[in-house]
Amino acid sequence: MSIYQTHRERLLDGLARTKSAAIVATATHKVRNNDCEYRFRPDSDFWYLTGFAEPGALLVLLPDGALGDEEPRRSILFLREKNAKLETWTGRRLGVQAAPKTLGVDAAYDIEDIWDVLGDLLKNYQSIVYRTGLSEERDRKVLAMIAGLRNKARGGIQPPVELIDPAPSLHEQRLFKSPAELELMRAAAAITCEAHIAAMERAAPGVGENEIDALIEYTFRCRGATGMAYTTIAAGGDNACILHYVENDEPLVDGELLLVDAGCEVEYYASDVTRTYPVNGSFNPAQKEIYELVLEAQLAAIEAIQPGLAVDQVHAVAKRVLTRGLIRLGLLAGEGDKTAEEGAEERFTIHKTSHWLGLDVHDCGSYCAADEPRKLEPGMVLTVEPGLYISADDESVDERWRGIGVRIEDDILVTAEGSENLTAQIPKTIEAVEAACAGKVLATLA
Ligand code: GLY
Ligand code: MN
Ligand code: MN
Repeated sequence: MSIYQTHRERLLDGLARTKSAAIVATATHKVRNNDCEYRFRPDSDFWYLTGFAEPGALLVLLPDGALGDEEPRRSILFLREKNAKLETWTGRRLGVQAAPKTLGVDAAYDIEDIWDVLGDLLKNYQSIVYRTGLSEERDRKVLAMIAGLRNKARGGIQPPVELIDPAPSLHEQRLFKSPAELELMRAAAAITCEAHIAAMERAAPGVGENEIDALIEYTFRCRGATGMAYTTIAAGGDNACILHYVENDEPLVDGELLLVDAGCEVEYYASDVTRTYPVNGSFNPAQKEIYELVLEAQLAAIEAIQPGLAVDQVHAVAKRVLTRGLIRLGLLAGEGDKTAEEGAEERFTIHKTSHWLGLDVHDCGSYCAADEPRKLEPGMVLTVEPGLYISADDESVDERWRGIGVRIEDDILVTAEGSENLTAQIPKTIEAVEAACAGKVLATLA
């Protein structure tokens, strides 16, 4: 049984308990400009349940036990039928006939027929798990289908009375990674590692941010990654202080730092890693102090991770270390880890420390349980990514600090014993980073 079939079976177990059916559509092509489209990327929920990467598809999951329905549980895929002429233009299609054997679904039908048959499949389920808001057109058709069923209630059916968001069922399931999923995340981490090391080696004064960006993507694609988990940030000097800097079109400058936030996907499972290093290969004293502080915060936050820790405490630990360090360096007024003005550190720390990671880089899964920050459990994967950002035009700080932006980010699996850093192999200490910039790590890996 494929991992995707396993995911379906587990979701069906839960659906049976609530007498719900589920419908999960994949993504649609997105237009880039005029009549050109971006390369297709399936919806993560749909991929998780099918392992099927074609557009124009929708999965229906029907647990057994629906009123008046003697059928066993079943997975039904609607997909594009084969079409020799269209396939010449837009690519090969699996087709209806091959789908059950290839994907392990119980039945497959032409997507063109879906609105004629979907109502009949769903007519006796109390509720339908369905995510609204992704496609207005599909939402309208789903609502019209349910309205149509209500009109038939006098004929003895019990039409669905509620639509349920996938967050409490499917997204909770996705939050906990199985060993097979972790294998894919480790594969993504290994390729991402290689790309970051290649970038460290290539960085030098006069090299373009674009070249670093291209080298990263080249490495991902050459090594067989499915794609990029998000748009690479290759930010030299002060550009690192723009959190979502993606222009990546300026030359790297001698004496400045380069922040690279980049991760690939393998079978659409993401990695998400940031490293910051000196363009000329050696940190200057001010850069070193900021870097060591961010590293101390990151290591302390990772060290704290274990089952039972509330997720917001990962941020709290990192923030405490950063705040104490900023006071020690004279960048903030205060004592110990208490700034004179509450929250003053946020002008340098800006963002939170963690997010869930999985099929989406900012993965699904709630951050709260019963109104409390939820507790970490084995199988969850989260990033730990503290940063400090001191803008080049911040005249309130000593000149030596200006234009320094540092973030360090790794992907951490919560285990029964504590945690495992999935991206630990990417150079991170000052010595390891400087060696990688000098080409030493690549030489030893080769
Ligand atoms: N690369 C996106 C993030 O770090 O959240
Ligand atoms: Mn991240
Ligand atoms: Mn990142």
